[in-house]
Amino acid sequence: MPGPYPPVNPKCPHFLHGGDYNPDQWPTEVWAEDMRLMKLSGCNAMSVGIFSWAQLEPQEGRYTFDWLDRIMDMLAENDAWAVLATPSAAQPAWMSARYPEILRTDYNRIHHGHGGRVNYCLTSPVWREKIATIATALAERYKDHPALLMWHVHNEYSGECYCDQCAAAFRDWLGRKYPTLDALNQAYWAAFWSHTYTDWSQVGPPGSPYGEGFHGGLWIDWKRFTTEQTIACFRTEADVLRRLSPGVPVTTNLMGTYPPLDYWKFARELDVISWDSYPRFHERPGESMHGTGFTHDLNRCLGGGKPFLLMESSPSSQNWMPVMRLKRPGMHRVMSLQAVAHGSDSVQYFQWRKGRGGHEKFHGAVVDHEGSENSRVFQDVAEVGQILAQLDPVIGSAVKAEVAIVYDWENGWAIEHSAGPRKDKEYIATLHEHYRTFWEAGVPVDVVGEEGDFSGYKLLIAPMLYMVRPGVAERIEAFVEAGGTFVATYLSGIADENDLVFTGGWPGPLRRLMGIRAEELDVLYDDERNLVVPARDNALGLTGPFEARVFCDLIHAESAEVLASYGEDFYAGRPALTVNRFGQGRAYYVASRNDEAFLDAFYAALMREQAIRPVLSAKLPRGVSVQARSDGQRDYVFMLNFTRQTRHVPLSEPGLENLLTGQAIGRSLDLEPYGSAILTRPAR
Ligand code: GLA
Ligand code: ZN
Repeated sequence: MPGPYPPVNPKCPHFLHGGDYNPDQWPTEVWAEDMRLMKLSGCNAMSVGIFSWAQLEPQEGRYTFDWLDRIMDMLAENDAWAVLATPSAAQPAWMSARYPEILRTDYNRIHHGHGGRVNYCLTSPVWREKIATIATALAERYKDHPALLMWHVHNEYSGECYCDQCAAAFRDWLGRKYPTLDALNQAYWAAFWSHTYTDWSQVGPPGSPYGEGFHGGLWIDWKRFTTEQTIACFRTEADVLRRLSPGVPVTTNLMGTYPPLDYWKFARELDVISWDSYPRFHERPGESMHGTGFTHDLNRCLGGGKPFLLMESSPSSQNWMPVMRLKRPGMHRVMSLQAVAHGSDSVQYFQWRKGRGGHEKFHGAVVDHEGSENSRVFQDVAEVGQILAQLDPVIGSAVKAEVAIVYDWENGWAIEHSAGPRKDKEYIATLHEHYRTFWEAGVPVDVVGEEGDFSGYKLLIAPMLYMVRPGVAERIEAFVEAGGTFVATYLSGIADENDLVFTGGWPGPLRRLMGIRAEELDVLYDDERNLVVPARDNALGLTGPFEARVFCDLIHAESAEVLASYGEDFYAGRPALTVNRFGQGRAYYVASRNDEAFLDAFYAALMREQAIRPVLSAKLPRGVSVQARSDGQRDYVFMLNFTRQTRHVPLSEPGLENLLTGQAIGRSLDLEPYGSAILTRPAR
């Protein structure tokens, strides 16, 4: 049995391949054909029932499970598995009509009518009872069904509800958090614009088009509360499922870096992390895929390093995009393998069969309206199915990273909602910029939150660590003291957990560690640039000059050594890059948002210094990504060409074999446009 992690359910030690399947939208005659096509496409796992509430409970308390019974049986008869969903992402019309209080109230304080999806109140006791009841009915009926592989709770939790029930629950939540109203007023800096509350009844959700859009701490508490309410909805169902079908894993499909919900908290509730990936591959072909790599890594790390599941992806195009661009030949394979390379034990789709009506009738699907196996897309899917069928040894294998990048949801809330220093701060885009260097070098990266465990890494990078919560600076200091290398940037150490700015000099609690003081932040217009000029004979061997844009922090070196300085404007000659020795380690401060050439040279130097090795000794051409998983005995090395050109990769490592053909690999490899190769070698 490979490892080190078990398969998501020991019943199925194979890659999951399949996706959202809605037989209840189709006449029964189509079902046998679905089964035939599933076999042909190498699909073995179908997510059923996601939006089926009206078909499962057409009247309150009257269940119609016959169709689902039949589908579950057919899946079992065809050696396929059910990723069985609870239908709570969309309620039936009768329910909205009878219990209007379950409908959502939006930011504009408008109480919704029935329709759409994820259109319910996060607090309503009636709603909680309804979702528990349908989950109970499903679990009681299918808990012992041979096709049941795992539970898929709801679908893509999202949004907030601003109704009176939610407002009251928020008030209670705040009452538990703050011992006195005065403490709350202080946390929110409420004297500003006369926002001081004098009675708890005045406190409520922030914002509305007629009130105030953002009030620091209140907004952040509201996001924390919304995350907790969402988790409470999830738990309402998960508790039932776990009680009635112990051992069957429970998940819900997450949405990558989805800013509104703190997934570091949500992830703890899931037995396996799963997510829906819809990259904008067509916008800059071959160049945006590192962002997707980052999000795959994030999902692996949300599960503590365990393999995750790619729960949805489009086999072709996405109808909600402004332009429904097709995946070019080879793209589907390379993008599917990318998920696997970063730690996914599945390739799942939205959707199996294109519906004839409804909002998603043009969304990519395995089976097109034409209905046969003869389409290009179907053949592409079948090819992925054939590859996955040969990847059993990869199941449960792990990624070992020596580099970690901090992505923190609360930090993102505080940055993006702060008025100034610039409208668009591009937190996630900045993380991608730092990540790209490692992605291109073939160096694996983990993603951690502020509360993550930093101790196992050589290099910890925390771009724009604006919010530093209590204890975080101390843990980063301990990491560096013990020999770690830490990188911080402009806009760090600015505010505490309530978005109250630190006094006494930035970067606040990181100041001692960084050995600098940040005095002012210059913010540039999009077309403006400054220069970063490395000091002669600097310890990192940087040459440059490099280009700085958007943010230029004007800092003073205290105990830190200056490695580079600005080249222009009134702050020419002042430090732009510093290093501070701290205990056994070093802390680097990158004062400006710099170009790719800087990030490449800077991180190459740190990797040399820390002996951080890529997963393959090879000089990778641009657009080729190499990632590896390992079970401790063997390594599985994925080479992925995200460009439209053939890429030649010279190799200098002995012992590599093609996993699919068993053939030994020579001194080089040619990857066709969007081509890929899966290699194996004895574990390093
Ligand atoms: C999401 C949803 C699916 C479907 C797809 C379309 O990921 O979970 O139900 O709407 O988007 O891309
Ligand atoms: Zn509500």
